[in-house]
This record gives sequence, structure tokens and C-alpha cells, in this order.
Amino acid sequence: MKEIIAIANQKGGVGKTTTSINLASCLVKNNYKVLLVDFDPQGNCTSGIGLDPTSVEHLIHENILQNKPLKSIIKNTSIKNLDIVPSNLNLATLETLVLKNNIKNPTKVLKASLSELEENDYDFIIIDCPPSLSFLSLNALNAATSVLIPIQCEYFALEAVAQILSVITKIQKETNPNLDILGFLLTMYDNRTTLSTMITTQVTGTFKEKTFKVQIPRNIYIPEGCAQGKPVNIYKPNASGSIAYNQLAKEVIQYVEQKARK
Ligand SMILES: Nc1ncnc2c1ncn2[C@@H]1O[C@H](COP(=O)(O)OP(=O)(O)OP(=O)(O)O)[C@@H](O)[C@H]1O
Ligand SMILES: [Mg+2]
Repeated sequence: MKEIIAIANQKGGVGKTTTSINLASCLVKNNYKVLLVDFDPQGNCTSGIGLDPTSVEHLIHENILQNKPLKSIIKNTSIKNLDIVPSNLNLATLETLVLKNNIKNPTKVLKASLSELEENDYDFIIIDCPPSLSFLSLNALNAATSVLIPIQCEYFALEAVAQILSVITKIQKETNPNLDILGFLLTMYDNRTTLSTMITTQVTGTFKEKTFKVQIPRNIYIPEGCAQGKPVNIYKPNASGSIAYNQLAKEVIQYVEQKARK
């Protein structure tokens, strides 16, 4: 089993990074080997897992532009079986450098990098995308076998989803026919607000079985854990956020098992 999951939504602050880190950690808890790819120059995924983005010396650039092995760029985290391709602000220069150096298939450079990994190095690769639908996100969607779309229970959530869906359809037709929609995930859910219930009804009504059964609640222990470089299932195992991300991991595993049977 090897699933490459892009966590994408061009809308900012919807829980992409939080979901990348916490889903990864919960998959590890289920005995899977996971590689996180921080593909956002903000470096939030890198810091959220406990590494300092400013002290990261080797970026994926060196693999793409200088053929340095990807494995020399991958870093271990404090969690066994959870590794990361780290990022920092310099990742923002990747597009310009790829174009300047006439690298073939510019929107497939991440796919080429990941193809260096052996089949059994990792069971899951999770790519944290930036809040845009440009070069870095297109690379993530071309490298992925599936995409998970976090949706924050806020105004304009569905407009953003319509935009990303049209990009996904284009990618499926033109460059990555293997890209499947893993699911839509409602994040920062608060059942006391009518907006949360309203968005949930709209999303489940529109996307039906593609909406994850679990909703991620707004839970203070999630950002608190991130600030300390700890996924919530390690920081506060019994917190509602931890229970929800564990449930998400189970649904993702079920999806992958079903896919393998097809
Ligand atoms: N379930 C939650 N409960 C409470 N706070 C949360 C939850 N999920 C995310 N947050 C907080 O909301 C903010 C945005 O989350 P996050 O950084 O994961 O979003 P993002 O989509 O990756 O943002 P960006 O588009 O900037 O990359 C962060 O401060 C994060 O700690
Ligand atoms: Mg982010």
C-alpha cells in the first residue's frame, strides 16, 4: 500500500497543515510509516512537527536542481516512523529556478522526486499544500494519488471548493488520471454555531459519501500541541481533537483498503 495524499485548498487557514500533521501522526499510531512533505514556503508543517524552518539547510531544490538524493533531504522527526521533507521561505524560489534551469515537466518535479523512494520506504506520503492553486499545489496534485480537501465551516467555503474542484477535474483529464478525491473534511467544527451546521448540511448534501463522517472540532489542544511541535494525539490523547483525528485516520485507512480491493 502506498498512498500519496495532497492536502489542498487554496483558501488560507482552513486546517491543511493541522490536518497534515495530525493525520500523519494518527496513521503512524496505526503502525504505518509516513512521510510528510511540507510544500508550503510558510514552513508551518515543519515547525508544527517540532523542527525550526530557519535552521533547515537542505531543501527539495537540491534534489530537483542538483540531483542530490531525496533521502539526504528527508529528516527524521521526534516520532518514530514519521519523517519529513522540510520547507522554509526559500521554497518560494523553486518555481523561478525550475523555469530558469529548463527542467523538464515543471509541474511534475515533485512527482519525479518522490519516485526515487522505494515501494516499501513509506506507506503514506502526505503533502501539505500552500494556500494557492499555483506551481507548488499543481506539483502536489500531479504527484498525488488522492486529494483531501479540508473545508472550514465558514462563509465562502463552498466557493473555494468549486474552484479547487475545477482544477482537480482539469488535472485528472490532462496530467494525472490517477488522482482521486479522497474526501472533504469539515474542520474547526463548532456545533453551537448555526453556520457550522449549515455548511455541514451543504457539504454532505453536495458531496455525499465523499464527505468524511468525522468532523474535526474546534479544540484548543490542537493549536497548543502544534505550538510545541506535538500532534494532538501525543500532546493530549483524550482530547476531542485527538479522537477526531484518530477517526479520520481510520476512515483514510478504510478508503485505501477498499481501493486496493478494486
Ligand atoms: N481543529 C482546530 N481547532 C482549533 N484551532 C485550529 C484547528 N485547526 C486549525 N486550527 C488553527 O487554525 C489556524 C489555521 O490552521 P492551519 O495552519 O492548519 O491552516 P492552513 O490551511 O494550513 O493555513 P495556510 O493556508 O496558511 O497554510 C492555525 O492557527 C491552527 O492552529
Ligand atoms: Mg498551512
